[in-house]
Amino acid sequence: MSSGIEIEGLVFDAGASNRTSSRGDSGEAPADRTVSADLQEEDLAFDRSLRPKYLKDYLGQTKIKESLAILIEAAQARGEAADHILFSGPPGLGKTTLATVVANEMGANIKTTSGPAIERTGDLAAILTNLEEGDVLFIDEIHRMNRMVEEVLYPALEDYALDIVVGKGPAARSIRLDLPHFTLIGATTRTGLLTGPLRDRFGIAFRLQYYTPDELASIVRRSAAILEVPIADDGALEIARRSRGTPRLANRLLKRVRDWAQVRGDGTITEDVAAQALSFFEVDSLGLDAMDNRILEMLAVQFCGRPVGLGTLASALSEEPDTLEDVYEPFLMQQGLVIRTPKGRQATARAYEHLGLVAPEGL
Ligand SMILES: Nc1ncnc2c1ncn2[C@@H]1O[C@H](COP(=O)(O)OP(=O)(O)OP(=O)(O)O)[C@@H](O)[C@H]1O
Ligand SMILES: [Mg+2]
Repeated sequence: MSSGIEIEGLVFDAGASNRTSSRGDSGEAPADRTVSADLQEEDLAFDRSLRPKYLKDYLGQTKIKESLAILIEAAQARGEAADHILFSGPPGLGKTTLATVVANEMGANIKTTSGPAIERTGDLAAILTNLEEGDVLFIDEIHRMNRMVEEVLYPALEDYALDIVVGKGPAARSIRLDLPHFTLIGATTRTGLLTGPLRDRFGIAFRLQYYTPDELASIVRRSAAILEVPIADDGALEIARRSRGTPRLANRLLKRVRDWAQVRGDGTITEDVAAQALSFFEVDSLGLDAMDNRILEMLAVQFCGRPVGLGTLASALSEEPDTLEDVYEPFLMQQGLVIRTPKGRQATARAYEHLGLVAPEGL
Protein backbone atom coordinates (compact mmCIF):
# COMPACT_ATOMS: atom_id res chain seq x y z
CA MET A 1 0.00 0.00 0.00
CA SER A 2 1.27 3.44 -0.85
CA SER A 3 0.51 5.39 2.32
CA GLY A 4 3.61 3.87 3.96
CA ILE A 5 2.57 4.61 7.52
CA GLU A 6 2.47 1.61 9.77
CA ILE A 7 0.73 1.35 13.06
CA GLU A 8 1.90 -1.58 15.13
CA GLY A 9 2.93 -3.28 11.92
CA LEU A 10 -0.37 -2.67 10.21
CA VAL A 11 -0.67 -0.43 7.22
CA PHE A 12 -2.68 2.71 7.72
CA ASP A 13 -5.86 2.33 5.69
CA ALA A 14 -7.54 5.65 5.14
CA GLY A 15 -10.39 3.94 3.32
CA ALA A 16 -11.54 2.43 6.58
CA SER A 17 -13.34 5.60 7.48
CA ASN A 18 -15.84 4.69 4.79
CA ARG A 19 -17.05 2.06 7.19
CA THR A 20 -18.41 4.72 9.46
CA SER A 21 -21.68 6.34 8.67
CA SER A 22 -23.64 9.17 10.16
CA ARG A 23 -26.96 7.39 9.92
CA GLY A 24 -26.90 6.12 13.47
CA ASP A 25 -28.20 2.70 12.54
CA SER A 26 -25.35 0.25 12.78
CA GLY A 27 -25.49 -2.91 14.81
CA GLU A 28 -29.18 -2.93 15.54
CA ALA A 29 -29.85 -6.13 17.43
CA PRO A 30 -33.04 -7.94 16.57
CA ALA A 31 -35.33 -7.10 19.46
CA ASP A 32 -38.55 -7.69 17.65
CA ARG A 33 -39.44 -11.33 17.38
CA THR A 34 -43.10 -10.67 16.82
CA VAL A 35 -42.62 -9.32 13.36
CA SER A 36 -39.46 -11.06 12.24
CA ALA A 37 -36.23 -12.36 13.69
CA ASP A 38 -34.08 -9.80 11.87
CA LEU A 39 -34.40 -6.12 11.46
CA GLN A 40 -35.08 -5.49 7.81
CA GLU A 41 -34.13 -2.29 6.00
CA GLU A 42 -37.79 -1.27 6.18
CA ASP A 43 -37.74 -1.68 9.97
CA LEU A 44 -34.62 0.44 10.24
CA ALA A 45 -36.26 3.22 8.25
CA PHE A 46 -39.33 2.94 10.51
CA ASP A 47 -37.12 3.13 13.63
CA ARG A 48 -35.38 6.19 12.25
CA SER A 49 -38.59 7.99 11.36
CA LEU A 50 -39.79 7.71 14.96
CA ARG A 51 -36.45 8.34 16.65
CA PRO A 52 -36.49 11.41 18.91
CA LYS A 53 -33.87 14.00 17.97
CA TYR A 54 -33.69 16.10 21.14
CA LEU A 55 -33.92 15.43 24.88
CA LYS A 56 -37.37 16.99 25.09
CA ASP A 57 -38.75 14.31 22.73
CA TYR A 58 -36.94 11.48 24.48
CA LEU A 59 -39.52 10.12 26.91
CA GLY A 60 -38.79 8.27 30.15
CA GLN A 61 -35.30 7.57 31.61
CA THR A 62 -35.74 10.82 33.55
CA LYS A 63 -32.65 10.50 35.73
CA ILE A 64 -30.40 9.80 32.74
CA LYS A 65 -31.83 12.75 30.83
CA GLU A 66 -31.23 15.10 33.74
CA SER A 67 -27.64 13.97 34.12
CA LEU A 68 -27.05 14.32 30.38
CA ALA A 69 -28.54 17.80 30.30
CA ILE A 70 -26.12 18.90 33.05
CA LEU A 71 -23.16 17.20 31.37
CA ILE A 72 -23.92 18.85 28.04
CA GLU A 73 -24.59 22.30 29.44
CA ALA A 74 -21.42 22.25 31.54
CA ALA A 75 -19.27 21.12 28.61
CA GLN A 76 -20.75 23.79 26.38
CA ALA A 77 -20.20 26.50 28.98
CA ARG A 78 -16.54 25.48 29.16
CA GLY A 79 -16.35 25.26 25.37
CA GLU A 80 -15.06 21.70 25.64
CA ALA A 81 -16.05 18.33 24.27
CA ALA A 82 -18.24 16.44 26.76
CA ASP A 83 -16.87 13.50 28.75
CA HIS A 84 -16.91 10.07 27.12
CA ILE A 85 -20.25 8.35 27.76
CA LEU A 86 -21.24 4.69 27.98
CA PHE A 87 -24.83 3.51 27.52
CA SER A 88 -25.73 -0.05 28.40
CA GLY A 89 -28.94 -2.04 28.52
CA PRO A 90 -31.06 -4.56 26.62
CA PRO A 91 -31.83 -4.07 22.90
CA GLY A 92 -34.37 -1.48 21.81
CA LEU A 93 -34.32 0.69 24.95
CA GLY A 94 -32.86 3.72 23.19
CA LYS A 95 -29.05 3.61 23.39
CA THR A 96 -28.46 4.57 19.76
CA THR A 97 -31.21 7.16 20.05
CA LEU A 98 -29.55 8.75 23.09
CA ALA A 99 -26.22 8.93 21.29
CA THR A 100 -27.78 10.91 18.44
CA VAL A 101 -29.73 13.05 20.92
CA VAL A 102 -26.50 13.96 22.76
CA ALA A 103 -24.82 14.91 19.47
CA ASN A 104 -27.82 17.00 18.41
CA GLU A 105 -28.00 18.77 21.76
CA MET A 106 -24.29 19.62 21.49
CA GLY A 107 -24.74 20.72 17.89
CA ALA A 108 -22.03 18.21 17.01
CA ASN A 109 -21.53 15.87 14.08
CA ILE A 110 -21.88 12.20 14.87
CA LYS A 111 -19.80 9.50 13.24
CA THR A 112 -21.14 6.02 13.76
CA THR A 113 -19.38 2.70 13.71
CA SER A 114 -19.46 -0.53 15.69
CA GLY A 115 -17.04 -2.73 17.59
CA PRO A 116 -16.98 -5.61 15.05
CA ALA A 117 -16.65 -3.18 12.09
CA ILE A 118 -13.29 -1.92 13.37
CA GLU A 119 -11.24 -4.95 12.46
CA ARG A 120 -7.72 -3.57 12.60
CA THR A 121 -5.87 -0.89 14.54
CA GLY A 122 -5.41 0.97 11.25
CA ASP A 123 -9.18 1.13 10.81
CA LEU A 124 -9.54 2.88 14.14
CA ALA A 125 -6.60 5.19 13.42
CA ALA A 126 -8.30 6.24 10.19
CA ILE A 127 -11.56 6.92 11.97
CA LEU A 128 -9.87 8.92 14.72
CA THR A 129 -7.75 11.05 12.40
CA ASN A 130 -10.84 11.88 10.36
CA LEU A 131 -12.65 13.34 13.36
CA GLU A 132 -13.07 17.06 13.74
CA GLU A 133 -12.96 19.15 16.90
CA GLY A 134 -16.08 18.54 19.02
CA ASP A 135 -17.31 15.53 17.01
CA VAL A 136 -19.16 12.64 18.62
CA LEU A 137 -17.83 9.20 17.77
CA PHE A 138 -20.46 6.55 18.41
CA ILE A 139 -19.22 2.97 18.75
CA ASP A 140 -22.10 0.52 18.97
CA GLU A 141 -21.52 -2.98 20.40
CA ILE A 142 -18.32 -1.66 21.88
CA HIS A 143 -17.82 -4.89 23.86
CA ARG A 144 -17.09 -6.65 20.58
CA MET A 145 -14.04 -4.56 19.71
CA ASN A 146 -10.83 -6.55 19.59
CA ARG A 147 -8.13 -6.05 22.19
CA MET A 148 -5.46 -4.59 19.88
CA VAL A 149 -7.90 -2.01 18.57
CA GLU A 150 -8.98 -1.24 22.11
CA GLU A 151 -5.43 -0.43 23.14
CA VAL A 152 -5.14 2.18 20.40
CA LEU A 153 -8.29 3.75 21.80
CA TYR A 154 -6.90 4.23 25.34
CA PRO A 155 -4.54 7.19 24.66
CA ALA A 156 -7.11 8.63 22.27
CA LEU A 157 -9.66 8.74 25.08
CA GLU A 158 -7.28 9.89 27.78
CA ASP A 159 -4.98 12.35 26.01
CA TYR A 160 -6.58 12.79 22.58
CA ALA A 161 -3.46 11.25 21.12
CA LEU A 162 -2.61 8.50 18.68
CA ASP A 163 0.68 6.65 19.05
CA ILE A 164 1.93 5.34 15.75
CA VAL A 165 5.08 3.52 14.71
CA VAL A 166 6.73 4.77 11.54
CA GLY A 167 9.13 2.53 9.64
CA LYS A 168 10.40 -0.93 10.45
CA GLY A 169 13.28 -2.60 12.27
CA PRO A 170 16.06 -0.41 13.73
CA ALA A 171 14.75 2.65 11.87
CA ALA A 172 11.31 2.33 13.45
CA ARG A 173 10.28 5.19 15.67
CA SER A 174 7.17 6.04 17.53
CA ILE A 175 5.44 9.31 17.00
CA ARG A 176 2.48 10.76 18.77
CA LEU A 177 -0.23 12.47 16.74
CA ASP A 178 -2.56 14.94 18.36
CA LEU A 179 -6.22 14.24 17.79
CA PRO A 180 -9.08 16.71 17.88
CA HIS A 181 -11.04 16.79 21.13
CA PHE A 182 -13.98 14.48 20.62
CA THR A 183 -16.59 12.66 22.71
CA LEU A 184 -16.78 8.91 22.51
CA ILE A 185 -20.21 7.42 23.08
CA GLY A 186 -20.15 3.66 23.51
CA ALA A 187 -23.20 1.41 23.56
CA THR A 188 -23.37 -2.16 24.76
CA THR A 189 -25.95 -4.75 25.64
CA ARG A 190 -23.33 -6.48 27.82
CA THR A 191 -21.43 -4.32 30.32
CA GLY A 192 -20.03 -7.49 31.81
CA LEU A 193 -17.99 -8.11 28.67
CA LEU A 194 -16.30 -4.72 28.69
CA THR A 195 -12.69 -4.78 29.90
CA GLY A 196 -11.92 -2.86 33.09
CA PRO A 197 -9.47 -0.43 31.43
CA LEU A 198 -12.02 0.50 28.76
CA ARG A 199 -14.84 0.93 31.26
CA ASP A 200 -12.62 3.17 33.40
CA ARG A 201 -12.00 5.53 30.51
CA PHE A 202 -15.61 6.57 30.25
CA GLY A 203 -16.29 9.68 32.32
CA ILE A 204 -19.83 8.53 32.93
CA ALA A 205 -21.83 5.35 32.41
CA PHE A 206 -25.59 4.95 32.24
CA ARG A 207 -27.61 1.77 32.45
CA LEU A 208 -30.95 2.09 30.67
CA GLN A 209 -33.91 0.54 32.47
CA TYR A 210 -37.06 -1.02 31.07
CA TYR A 211 -39.78 1.62 30.64
CA THR A 212 -42.96 1.73 32.72
CA PRO A 213 -46.30 1.19 30.94
CA ASP A 214 -47.09 4.90 31.41
CA GLU A 215 -43.83 5.97 29.80
CA LEU A 216 -44.36 3.56 26.92
CA ALA A 217 -47.91 4.82 26.49
CA SER A 218 -46.52 8.35 25.96
CA ILE A 219 -44.07 6.96 23.42
CA VAL A 220 -46.92 5.16 21.61
CA ARG A 221 -49.01 8.34 21.57
CA ARG A 222 -46.08 10.34 20.21
CA SER A 223 -45.44 7.76 17.48
CA ALA A 224 -49.15 7.54 16.62
CA ALA A 225 -49.23 11.33 16.19
CA ILE A 226 -46.23 11.18 13.83
CA LEU A 227 -47.84 8.33 11.87
CA GLU A 228 -51.22 10.12 11.97
CA VAL A 229 -52.98 7.12 13.49
CA PRO A 230 -56.05 7.91 15.63
CA ILE A 231 -55.56 6.32 19.05
CA ALA A 232 -57.42 6.46 22.37
CA ASP A 233 -55.39 6.81 25.60
CA ASP A 234 -56.47 3.37 26.81
CA GLY A 235 -55.51 1.93 23.41
CA ALA A 236 -52.00 3.36 23.80
CA LEU A 237 -51.80 1.94 27.33
CA GLU A 238 -52.87 -1.52 26.16
CA ILE A 239 -50.06 -1.56 23.58
CA ALA A 240 -47.67 -0.20 26.21
CA ARG A 241 -48.52 -2.94 28.71
CA ARG A 242 -47.65 -5.60 26.17
CA SER A 243 -44.40 -4.09 24.91
CA ARG A 244 -42.03 -5.74 27.43
CA GLY A 245 -40.81 -2.36 28.63
CA THR A 246 -39.20 -1.68 25.24
CA PRO A 247 -39.87 1.36 23.00
CA ARG A 248 -38.77 -0.39 19.81
CA LEU A 249 -41.31 -3.11 20.45
CA ALA A 250 -44.01 -0.59 21.39
CA ASN A 251 -43.52 1.11 18.02
CA ARG A 252 -43.61 -2.23 16.17
CA LEU A 253 -46.76 -3.32 17.93
CA LEU A 254 -48.33 0.03 17.16
CA LYS A 255 -47.65 -0.62 13.48
CA ARG A 256 -49.24 -4.10 13.64
CA VAL A 257 -52.26 -2.83 15.57
CA ARG A 258 -52.68 0.04 13.10
CA ASP A 259 -52.93 -2.47 10.23
CA TRP A 260 -55.39 -4.61 12.16
CA ALA A 261 -57.54 -1.59 13.05
CA GLN A 262 -57.64 -0.55 9.42
CA VAL A 263 -58.71 -3.94 8.13
CA ARG A 264 -60.92 -5.24 10.94
CA GLY A 265 -62.08 -1.98 12.54
CA ASP A 266 -62.63 1.64 11.59
CA GLY A 267 -58.97 2.61 11.86
CA THR A 268 -59.10 3.97 15.41
CA ILE A 269 -57.06 2.17 18.06
CA THR A 270 -59.12 1.65 21.21
CA GLU A 271 -58.28 -0.60 24.16
CA ASP A 272 -60.48 -3.31 22.72
CA VAL A 273 -58.98 -3.09 19.24
CA ALA A 274 -55.44 -3.17 20.67
CA ALA A 275 -56.21 -6.19 22.86
CA GLN A 276 -57.82 -8.15 20.03
CA ALA A 277 -55.10 -7.28 17.54
CA LEU A 278 -52.30 -8.21 19.93
CA SER A 279 -53.91 -11.53 20.84
CA PHE A 280 -54.20 -12.17 17.12
CA PHE A 281 -50.44 -11.54 16.78
CA GLU A 282 -49.77 -13.86 19.75
CA VAL A 283 -48.53 -11.21 22.14
CA ASP A 284 -49.96 -12.14 25.52
CA SER A 285 -51.14 -9.97 28.42
CA LEU A 286 -47.61 -9.60 29.84
CA GLY A 287 -46.15 -8.84 26.43
CA LEU A 288 -44.57 -12.27 26.21
CA ASP A 289 -44.42 -13.74 22.73
CA ALA A 290 -44.31 -17.34 21.57
CA MET A 291 -40.57 -17.70 22.25
CA ASP A 292 -40.80 -16.28 25.80
CA ASN A 293 -43.59 -18.72 26.55
CA ARG A 294 -41.58 -21.60 25.09
CA ILE A 295 -38.73 -20.72 27.47
CA LEU A 296 -41.09 -20.71 30.45
CA GLU A 297 -42.67 -24.00 29.37
CA MET A 298 -39.29 -25.59 28.87
CA LEU A 299 -38.19 -24.62 32.39
CA ALA A 300 -41.51 -25.38 34.07
CA VAL A 301 -42.62 -28.50 32.25
CA GLN A 302 -39.73 -30.27 30.50
CA PHE A 303 -37.23 -29.49 33.27
CA CYS A 304 -39.91 -29.73 35.99
CA GLY A 305 -38.88 -26.48 37.70
CA ARG A 306 -35.30 -27.63 38.33
CA PRO A 307 -32.39 -25.19 37.73
CA VAL A 308 -31.05 -25.48 34.17
CA GLY A 309 -27.68 -24.28 32.84
CA LEU A 310 -27.74 -21.64 30.09
CA GLY A 311 -26.08 -23.94 27.53
CA THR A 312 -28.50 -26.78 28.19
CA LEU A 313 -31.48 -24.49 27.96
CA ALA A 314 -30.20 -22.90 24.76
CA SER A 315 -29.69 -26.21 23.00
CA ALA A 316 -33.07 -27.50 24.17
CA LEU A 317 -34.61 -24.44 22.54
CA SER A 318 -32.28 -24.45 19.48
CA GLU A 319 -31.31 -20.90 20.31
CA GLU A 320 -27.96 -19.14 20.77
CA PRO A 321 -26.96 -18.79 24.47
CA ASP A 322 -26.06 -15.13 23.82
CA THR A 323 -29.50 -14.39 22.41
CA LEU A 324 -31.18 -16.05 25.37
CA GLU A 325 -29.05 -14.08 27.79
CA ASP A 326 -29.24 -10.68 26.04
CA VAL A 327 -32.68 -10.60 24.50
CA TYR A 328 -35.08 -12.88 26.36
CA GLU A 329 -33.78 -13.41 29.86
CA PRO A 330 -33.52 -9.81 31.19
CA PHE A 331 -37.23 -9.16 30.76
CA LEU A 332 -38.29 -12.57 32.09
CA MET A 333 -36.14 -11.94 35.16
CA GLN A 334 -37.39 -8.37 35.56
CA GLN A 335 -40.94 -9.75 35.54
CA GLY A 336 -40.04 -12.30 38.21
CA LEU A 337 -40.84 -15.22 35.88
CA VAL A 338 -37.33 -16.64 35.83
CA ILE A 339 -34.58 -16.48 38.42
CA ARG A 340 -30.89 -17.15 38.10
CA THR A 341 -29.49 -19.40 40.79
CA PRO A 342 -25.89 -20.60 41.12
CA LYS A 343 -27.10 -23.89 39.59
CA GLY A 344 -28.87 -22.32 36.63
CA ARG A 345 -32.09 -20.75 35.42
CA GLN A 346 -35.32 -21.66 37.15
CA ALA A 347 -39.01 -20.96 36.56
CA THR A 348 -40.76 -19.20 39.46
CA ALA A 349 -44.21 -19.75 40.92
CA ARG A 350 -45.33 -16.71 38.90
CA ALA A 351 -44.23 -18.47 35.70
CA TYR A 352 -46.41 -21.48 36.54
CA GLU A 353 -49.29 -19.14 37.26
CA HIS A 354 -48.77 -17.34 33.95
CA LEU A 355 -48.80 -20.66 32.10
CA GLY A 356 -51.96 -21.69 33.93
CA LEU A 357 -50.16 -24.55 35.68
CA VAL A 358 -49.82 -25.61 39.28
CA ALA A 359 -46.36 -24.95 40.69
CA PRO A 360 -44.51 -27.89 42.28
CA GLU A 361 -44.45 -28.01 46.09
CA GLY A 362 -41.92 -25.74 47.73
CA LEU A 363 -41.42 -23.33 44.84
N1 LIG B 1 -36.99 7.33 25.18
C1 LIG B 1 -37.57 7.16 23.98
N2 LIG B 1 -38.58 7.94 23.59
C2 LIG B 1 -39.18 7.74 22.40
N3 LIG B 1 -38.82 6.78 21.51
C3 LIG B 1 -37.80 5.98 21.84
C4 LIG B 1 -37.10 6.14 23.09
N4 LIG B 1 -36.13 5.21 23.16
C5 LIG B 1 -36.20 4.52 22.03
N5 LIG B 1 -37.19 4.96 21.23
C6 LIG B 1 -37.59 4.37 19.95
O1 LIG B 1 -37.19 3.02 19.94
C7 LIG B 1 -36.39 2.73 18.82
C8 LIG B 1 -35.23 1.85 19.24
O2 LIG B 1 -34.28 2.57 19.99
P1 LIG B 1 -32.70 2.41 19.74
O3 LIG B 1 -32.43 1.99 18.35
O4 LIG B 1 -32.07 3.67 20.22
O5 LIG B 1 -32.39 1.24 20.75
P2 LIG B 1 -30.97 0.60 21.15
O6 LIG B 1 -30.92 0.61 22.65
O7 LIG B 1 -29.89 1.29 20.43
O8 LIG B 1 -31.13 -0.89 20.66
P3 LIG B 1 -30.01 -1.95 20.16
O9 LIG B 1 -29.35 -2.51 21.40
O10 LIG B 1 -30.82 -2.99 19.46
O11 LIG B 1 -29.07 -1.22 19.26
C9 LIG B 1 -35.95 4.09 18.29
O12 LIG B 1 -35.95 4.10 16.90
C10 LIG B 1 -36.98 5.06 18.77
O13 LIG B 1 -37.97 5.25 17.80
MG1 LIG C 1 -28.64 0.59 18.91
